[in-house]
Parts: sequence; structure tokens; C-alpha cells
Amino acid sequence: MSRLLQTGLNAGKDPLIKVIDGEGVYFVLADGRRLIDGSNTGGPLGHKHPVMVEAMKKAASNPVINEGWFWAEREAAAEDLIDIAFGEEKSWVGAVRFFLSGSEANDLALTFSQALTGRTELATRERAYHGMAGLARQMTVQPHWHGGLAIQGGGSKPVPPQVPVRILPAPANAKYGGLPDNRPLVERMAGTQETLSSVAATIIDYTQGGIYYDSEYQDYVANAARKAGSLWIADEVVTGLGRSGRWFAFQGGETRPDIVTLGKCLAGGSAPAGAVVMSKDIVEQMKGKSWQTYSTFRAHPSAVAAVRAYLSVMADGQIIRRVKTLETRMQQRLIEVARKHPSVARVDGFGLHWTIELHGPDWRKWYADTTDAPIASRVAARAMEAGAVIGTSGEQTSLFLAPSFIISDDELETLISALDHGLDLADAEFERGAA
Ligand SMILES: Cc1ncc(COP(=O)(O)O)c(C=O)c1O
Repeated sequence: MSRLLQTGLNAGKDPLIKVIDGEGVYFVLADGRRLIDGSNTGGPLGHKHPVMVEAMKKAASNPVINEGWFWAEREAAAEDLIDIAFGEEKSWVGAVRFFLSGSEANDLALTFSQALTGRTELATRERAYHGMAGLARQMTVQPHWHGGLAIQGGGSKPVPPQVPVRILPAPANAKYGGLPDNRPLVERMAGTQETLSSVAATIIDYTQGGIYYDSEYQDYVANAARKAGSLWIADEVVTGLGRSGRWFAFQGGETRPDIVTLGKCLAGGSAPAGAVVMSKDIVEQMKGKSWQTYSTFRAHPSAVAAVRAYLSVMADGQIIRRVKTLETRMQQRLIEVARKHPSVARVDGFGLHWTIELHGPDWRKWYADTTDAPIASRVAARAMEAGAVIGTSGEQTSLFLAPSFIISDDELETLISALDHGLDLADAEFERGAA
């Protein structure tokens, strides 16, 4: 038995894959197979991108310096992030602080909001995932990601709550299937402003639990939060910096957040990094105050080098335009695949992040408290026979596709064909269940 404690993304006892290397869009496995790495939200440029490799070699010569010292390169990384990624948001963007991960950025954005507003309660939307540290963990409201202990054989010991969390209804969209709630948004969201009137921050992400971006929803929640005195944090840890087919998902709506949190793509997959980006208005409210937080390895020289290298690759917008083109292709192909498979309940997504949800037990009742591999993990295992590794985010009935932005048309087709192949297994079980 391994003495390394870890939790697999594909729930179940056995690891889905044993990775020994990566090259471009491929994972190389211990048994020699090269499979498309199809659900890697932290690897926007694939493996061993030459610009990233070169930057990381140079980074080894950087000084050993912690967050508490001024360092010109860190300042330059902040300027790059503001000028390149937030170039279209000049009238909005105020200031940046780097963190170690998306989880840490969310935790610190939430505690910052509590300090600024003097309120304790927090809000998110149904089925959200915001990370596994501090308050980010508490805002993760998928039942199996509670941060505590799942008892194999049944039951769990979750971590006791630190603050009251209000949960808003989620957008009810789907590109295929689903059970769209046809009530007008105002009706579905009735009481939102009242709910938010005691919360410090409302944090909303745009992919987790297979619930995707919806501009009308964003503007509704943003306006309600503003009126209620709650800050609005856009969690762009997954969607920020390219994956949504624009720099940021929030740019699809009219409203602008108080705070944006980043991670995943930020350092091109070559170093751990997160960031909190504040609006000019929030920076104004900080005048005469200092944010009393610190960590030794935040904005570590390797992370700073990786952030600058990633932004240099993305700067001309070509890759983001390519993601947008692939979005159309993915939507069309995934709907075709879904139509062939009675086991598919719903498909939704945008940019290069798509979820395929299967018929099966309700996600609200999944606690990952069994060693049996759930249906989504078994579909992922079968998909490998056809050349791709697909992730499940630990949910029982959901798979997601999030390949790197450098994927070619042919490789994307292999990925979708692998899903198609894997879904035969789900169909057989679905039909047995229906019989
Ligand atoms: C929307 C969202 N926010 C935050 C996080 C946390 O990021 P990390 O796991 O890098 O700390 C995740 C991770 O999947 C995420 O999906």
C-alpha cells in the first residue's frame, strides 16, 4: 500500500492511471501507452511547452525571496497580469495579490470580504466547488467534497462549519437534455437580495458541478449582491485566462465583480499560483489600511517566472481565439455523441470545459463513501481503451472534458471518440436498470 496520502479525482479504490511523463497533449503511462490528457484544467498549454520549459530553467537562477520583500520581478508579473489579461478591463482593474493556489486565493478573498464588510456569513450557489482550504472548503457545497473523512462502507465525518453559508439556486441551463427549470429567473431567484443582506461575500464560479456560465444569472446575482451590501467574488480559477474562450468568463455579462480569483492556468501549469484581483473601487476602500496576511512561498520566484511566461504566450490572443473555435466544434460533437447514448442525461459547457452528466443516482446523495468505482469512473476507464484520459471531479455520474488549448482538431476528435466508446458501458448499465 502506498504511504502517500491522496484522494483520486476518479472516485474508487484503484488509480485510473499511472503517469510517468507528459508530452504536448499526451500523458505517458507506466505501461508505455500515450493517451490524450483530456481533463487537465491546470495544464492550459499541455506538457513541456517550450516557452514554459525555458522560463522554468531560467527561474532556477532567481533569488530565494519571500512575499515580505520587495522584488521587481513580482511587480512586473502583477503589471503583466493587469496589462495583458485585464487589458480590456482598464476602467475596472485595481490591484493584484499573488497566492499559492486557487483554494488559497478564494479563502483569502473571503476572509478579506469579512474584514471589509464586518459581516461573517457567506454565499455561493448550489453544487459549487471553490477549493479545499479554509473558507474555500466551506463554500464547496458538493456533498462528497467536505474536507473531512469519508468512511469506506458508509458514512462520513465532515469538518464542523466555521461560518453560516447561504446557498443560492444555480443556473438551470443545458446544451443537451437536463431538466431546465422554465420559470423566469426572477421567480427562481426570489428572495436572493434578502438572503444576501447579511453576507460578506457572494462567490460564484462558472463550471463546477457541470453548472456553467449564464450572463443573465451573473447580472442578476451581481445586482442583488450590490443592493444587499455583499461583495461579489467571481471565482475564475478554472475559467480565467483562456479556458472560457475569452480572458474571463465574467466578461460575457454587463456587471463587473468586486474581486476576481485566479489559479489553475495562471502559471501555465508549470508552478503553483493563485491570485486575487480587486476592482479599483475596492482598492479605494483599502486606502489607509494594510492587508495583514503573509506567506513564505506566495509569488515564489518559480511561480512569478511561470506567470510571466504564460502571459507572454497568451498575449496576442491567438490561443484564446482558437479556444473559441474549438468551443463550437465541441458543442456540436458532444451533442451528436449524447444523442447516440441513452445513458446521457445532460451536456453543458463552454470554451474548453464541458460536462457530460449520466442518468443515475442524485448527486446530492453522493458521499464517496464506497470503494466501488462509480459509473463515471468506469466510463473513464473504458474511454482509455480508445486513447484518452477523462476526468470525473469525483462525482458519481459526471465526466468533464477540459483538454489543453493546444489540442489539434484530430486529437479533439480522438478525445470525443474515446468518450463515445466509454459511454457504451454506461448505456449497457442504463438499459439493464431500465429493463
Ligand atoms: C472553481 C474552482 N475554484 C477553486 C478551485 C481550487 O483550486 P485549487 O485546487 O487549485 O486550489 C477549483 C479547483 O478545482 C475550482 O474548480
